[in-house]
Amino acid sequence: MLDLHPFTVQFAVALLSVSVLFDILAMTTDRPHLHLVGWWNLFLGFLASLFAVITGFYAKNNSSFTSDIFPVLTYHQWLGIVVAALFTILFVWRSSMQRQIYEKWKTAYTALSIISALVLLTTGLLGGQLVFQHGANVEKVKELRQQIEQLQNESPVDTSMTNILSE
Ligand code: HEM
Repeated sequence: MLDLHPFTVQFAVALLSVSVLFDILAMTTDRPHLHLVGWWNLFLGFLASLFAVITGFYAKNNSSFTSDIFPVLTYHQWLGIVVAALFTILFVWRSSMQRQIYEKWKTAYTALSIISALVLLTTGLLGGQLVFQHGANVEKVKELRQQIEQLQNESPVDTSMTNILSE
C-alpha cells in the first residue's frame, strides 16, 4: 500500500505549530477570540498526529532499512509517540476546561504547549534526516542498493564502485 506517512505528517506539523502560535498571539495581543483558532488547529492537529503515528508504524513495518537508519528511526519513533501523547493531553485538558479555569491555568498550559511544539519540531527534523540524509524508503535509493548487491554478487573482488556508492 501507499506510504501515507510523508503526507499525514505535513498536517500534524503545520496544524499543531499554528495552534500553539495562535494561543501565544491570543495571550500577547489580548485578543481572546484567537484562542478559538488555536483550539480548532489543536483539534485537527491532534487527529493528524494520531494518523502520523499509525502511518509511521505502517511505513516502518512494511520496509527494510539498512542498519545505519535504526538509531535515528528509534529516536524519531519514540519522539513521535511522545508528541501524540502530549498533544492528546493538551487537547483533552483544553477541551474539558471551562473559560475561568483556562484563564487560571493558561500559563502552565502555554508552557506545556511550547515544550510539545519543540518536541514536534525535533521529531520532524529527525524525520527529514531519515529521508534526506539516510534515504529511508526512497525508491531510487532502494534501486541503487539492489544494484550494488547485484554488482557485489557478480564481481565480489571489485568493490571500488560499491564503496563509492555506500559512502
Ligand atoms: C507526530 C508524529 C510524527 C511526525 C510529526 C513525523 C514526522 C516525519 C517527517 C517530517 C518525516 C519525513 C517525511 C518527508 O520528508 O517526506 C518522517 C519520516 C518517517 N517517519 Fe515519522 N513522524 C512521526 C511519527 C512516526 C512514528 C511513530 C514512526 C514509527 C516508527 C515514524 C516513522 C517514520 C519513517 C519510517 C519515516 C521515513 C519515511 C517513510 O517511510 O515514510 N514516524 N516522519
